[in-house]
Amino acid sequence: MNGPAHQAPLADADLLDIEVELFVRALKLRHGYDFSQYAPASLKRRILQLVQSQQTGTVSELTARLLHEPAFLAIALEGLSVPVSEMFRDPDVFRALREQVFPVLASYPQINIWQAGCAHGQEVYSLAILLEEAGLYERAQIYATDFNENALHHAQEGIYPAKEAQLWSRHYLAAGGSQSLADYYSARYELIKLDQRLRRHVIFANHNLVTDEVFCEAHLVLCRNVLIYFSDPLQDRTLALFRDSLVRGGFLCLGTRESLDFAPSATDFSAVNAALRIYRLGSRNPGTG
Ligand SMILES: C[S@@+](CC[C@H](N)C(=O)[O-])C[C@H]1O[C@@H](n2cnc3c(N)ncnc32)[C@H](O)[C@@H]1O
Repeated sequence: MNGPAHQAPLADADLLDIEVELFVRALKLRHGYDFSQYAPASLKRRILQLVQSQQTGTVSELTARLLHEPAFLAIALEGLSVPVSEMFRDPDVFRALREQVFPVLASYPQINIWQAGCAHGQEVYSLAILLEEAGLYERAQIYATDFNENALHHAQEGIYPAKEAQLWSRHYLAAGGSQSLADYYSARYELIKLDQRLRRHVIFANHNLVTDEVFCEAHLVLCRNVLIYFSDPLQDRTLALFRDSLVRGGFLCLGTRESLDFAPSATDFSAVNAALRIYRLGSRNPGTG
C-alpha cells in the first residue's frame, strides 16, 4: 500500500536558507528593495548580524517585523548596506586621480562626477577637497548617491568622530594634499564637522544601483567597495549602467578589491591604472565627450 510521501526533515542549515530567502522576498515585495542578486554568503552574514543586534532569535522574526513594522525598514537597510567609509581611503587612488585623471578632466568646461554608494560622505568631501586644490572645483558638479537614506542624511551633515582625524590627515597628505586637513573642518568636543562650503557643488540623492537607471552624464564615476557585495551578473549590470552614464573617454574608478576583468562590459574600458582600478571608457577621441 502506498502511504503519503514524507520528506526527510530539513537540516538546520537548509531551514536557515529558506528563512533568508523569505526575508529577501519580503524586503522586495513589501518595500521594493531587491537584494536577490547580492553575493549570498555576505548577505546571509549580515542578516544573521541583524538577528543578533535586534535580538530576534530567528530570521523569520525579522521578516515579520519587515512586513508589519514600517519603521523597521530603515534598521534593516542600515544593517544590510554596510555604510562604512574613510576620508581619502586608499590614498594612492586619490593621488592617481589627481595625477592621471584630473589633467584630462581639466579640459572640460563643466565636470560631472557621479559618486555611487557614497555611504556617510567621506569620499565626497575628499574629492571636493582634491578638486578645490587642483583649481577645478568651481567647474565641478558631484552627484553623490546611495540607497540608504540614513547614510545620505549623515553624509549631508558631514560630522564624524574626531578620533578619525589623525588617520584621515595622514591619508590626505599621502594623497598629495597641499595644506592641512584641519583647514577643512572645525572640531568640537569629540566631533569634527567638515566645512560646508565643500558641499556647494554636491547634490546628494537617493539612487538604487539595482533598480534605478542612468543617473547623469558623467566624466568620472567613482564607485568603490560597493560591487564586492553584488553577484557577478549584478556587477555586470551595474558596470553597464556606469558605461551608459559616462561620456566617451570618461573615467571609472572602482574599489581596490573590485575588478572589471570578468565582466562582459569590461571590453568597453581600458585600464588607466589597473592596480588602482582606474579605467577609461573606450573613445575614438580621448579627451572629448
Ligand atoms: C562599504 S560602503 C562604501 C563607501 C565608499 N564608497 C567607500 O569605498 O569608502 C558601501 C555603500 O554602498 C551602498 N549600497 C549598497 N547597495 C547599494 C545599491 N543597490 N544602490 C546604491 N547604494 C548601495 C551602501 O548603502 C553603502 O553606503
